[in-house]
Amino acid sequence: MCKRFFALVLLAALALPLSLIAQTPSLAVQVDHTIAKVSPMLYGLMTEEINFSYDGGLYAELVRDRAIGEGRRALTHWTMAARGNSAVVVSVDAQIGPSAALPRSLKVSVTSATETAPAGVQNDGFWGIPVRPQTTYSGSFYAKTDSAGVPVTVSLVNDETGATAASATVTGLTGEWKQYTFTLKTAQAPVTANNHLILTIPRPATVWFDLVSLFPPTYHGRPYGDRIDLMEKLAAMHPAFLRLPGGNYLEGDHIAERFEWKNTIGPLVDRPTHPSPWRYRSSDGMGLLEFLEWCEDLKIEPVLAVYAGYSMAQEHVDAGPALESYVQDALDEIEFVTGDAGTKWGAERAKNGHPAPFPLHYVEIGNEDWFDRSGSYDGRYAQYYREIKQRYPDLQLIATAPIKSVKPDVLDEHFYMTAEKSFSDANHYDKTDRSGPKIFVGEWATREGEPTPNLQAALADAAWMTGMERNSDIVIMASYAPLFVNVNPGGMQWETDLIGYDALTSYGSPSYWAQVLFANHLGAEVVASTLANAGPWVYASVTRDEKRRKLFVKVVNASSDAATMTIALDGAPGVGREATLIVLSGKSPNATNSIANPEAVIPVERRIQIAGPKFERSFAPYSINVLELSY
Ligand code: AHR
Repeated sequence: MCKRFFALVLLAALALPLSLIAQTPSLAVQVDHTIAKVSPMLYGLMTEEINFSYDGGLYAELVRDRAIGEGRRALTHWTMAARGNSAVVVSVDAQIGPSAALPRSLKVSVTSATETAPAGVQNDGFWGIPVRPQTTYSGSFYAKTDSAGVPVTVSLVNDETGATAASATVTGLTGEWKQYTFTLKTAQAPVTANNHLILTIPRPATVWFDLVSLFPPTYHGRPYGDRIDLMEKLAAMHPAFLRLPGGNYLEGDHIAERFEWKNTIGPLVDRPTHPSPWRYRSSDGMGLLEFLEWCEDLKIEPVLAVYAGYSMAQEHVDAGPALESYVQDALDEIEFVTGDAGTKWGAERAKNGHPAPFPLHYVEIGNEDWFDRSGSYDGRYAQYYREIKQRYPDLQLIATAPIKSVKPDVLDEHFYMTAEKSFSDANHYDKTDRSGPKIFVGEWATREGEPTPNLQAALADAAWMTGMERNSDIVIMASYAPLFVNVNPGGMQWETDLIGYDALTSYGSPSYWAQVLFANHLGAEVVASTLANAGPWVYASVTRDEKRRKLFVKVVNASSDAATMTIALDGAPGVGREATLIVLSGKSPNATNSIANPEAVIPVERRIQIAGPKFERSFAPYSINVLELSY
């Protein structure tokens, strides 16, 4: 009977023109029916040294190759500087350095120089040195000389005009290594990155330098701190956590090249620097404490990734006695983060300037250990799990690959996708078994566009985020990767990165803005909703914040046509007649942002009228929409 009825309806429908049977897309929302809690940790940040993310990026150091440590190639960024008839030879002295960690130095041998024709060495920075007017730069270097008392003049000089933007002279050099500090203050300098830093001496002498450093004003004024524009962009994302340091940077190509956190703390002169897997050496200026202070500045939690005995050239440490010292390193690291100043590593942190412990709830054991073909991860994870839980039973321990011998608290899954895949897989977690470990999507991105994603990628990201949000009872955390790219030639090792910059300016990609929109309108509970007749290009999720009586309706329209939709809000005592609509859209899926055009695709916010609990709304072609309603 029922079947016959449907057959009749189908026949009747087939007899009608298609336009008459197409139904208006609708979103039915049951405001008083929540289906899950939204994880308050859902959106966070993932970081590693890639694409000049720290050196030449967030870490605001302006001098490139400041440490003349082991493993540097030829002096690419240090060149001789001689005026008039002066003469100088610049080389690496492999026998003389300021510390055991930095056993080499920059040897500057001036054979001929005068006050008016000094000679020395210059550094070209990370694709230039940005100079702005009325700005104070903090500088320092380690030095010793064979000619006690020789003065060193440090200047910021324009590459093209030769004009000096700021200058200072350091005196008192001796035959012993010592750190000297100086300040450079600009007056009316033009805003440009076409500058170099030059250190000169006015008479024949040899000076050995190391750790030559220059910082512009930094975020929260931290010494040796972070770039203000980039930190502001991160703050605007309202992240909940920082996965530090994640990715291949944690593992290194070889075990000896892993992120050895103990080499990244304390005075810079005691940090040996290390090769990163992304083809350049890391200064380790962004060390463990700096990562934690980054969290503190953004008021977010660290998700601490500890090295777990696997490096990418298929090198691993077997579980058991061989792994013990690595597990101990992880325990020490957790103590450095969380221990009070009475503990060994808490005391070390206090000595480094931060007596207060940091909050910590999640520790990730390794990175992408499914790449380890030896199959050793199960045993390695289990050993870390046992040892860490014994001392820190409340910590949630994240596994980076499925394992059998213990049930991990959380599993980190990574997705690098085409737009097609992100759209088609947007419901990836709808059917995930809720009895399994919680999920951390620790790296993910739609990879369309380079160096930064275009609008098509942002639309696909947003579709994928509606799925994570709907399932955020199980998907408790997610972080886009990579976060940063220096867009200068040679700056990028991985295409499609969230935020682009050069020495002077930065911009957020359309995908960045999609993250901002979702994280700033998170809500606390997922509300039951049904999207009907919307076609394959429309995605939605609905959350609410009961305390603020706010409903967040997110609609992604990835089609080239506007999508007119009926939205019905049932189960709410009333609906505010005014709402806020924020739209991120562009004329074409290829629309994008860049250094030259940083705001081609940015969100636009406006107030709109709502007719009642059931209303129609047209969503623009290629748009990501957040509708914030009161109920
Ligand atoms: O995000 C870039 C790289 O992708 C990460 O370093 C690694 O974890 C992943 O394979």
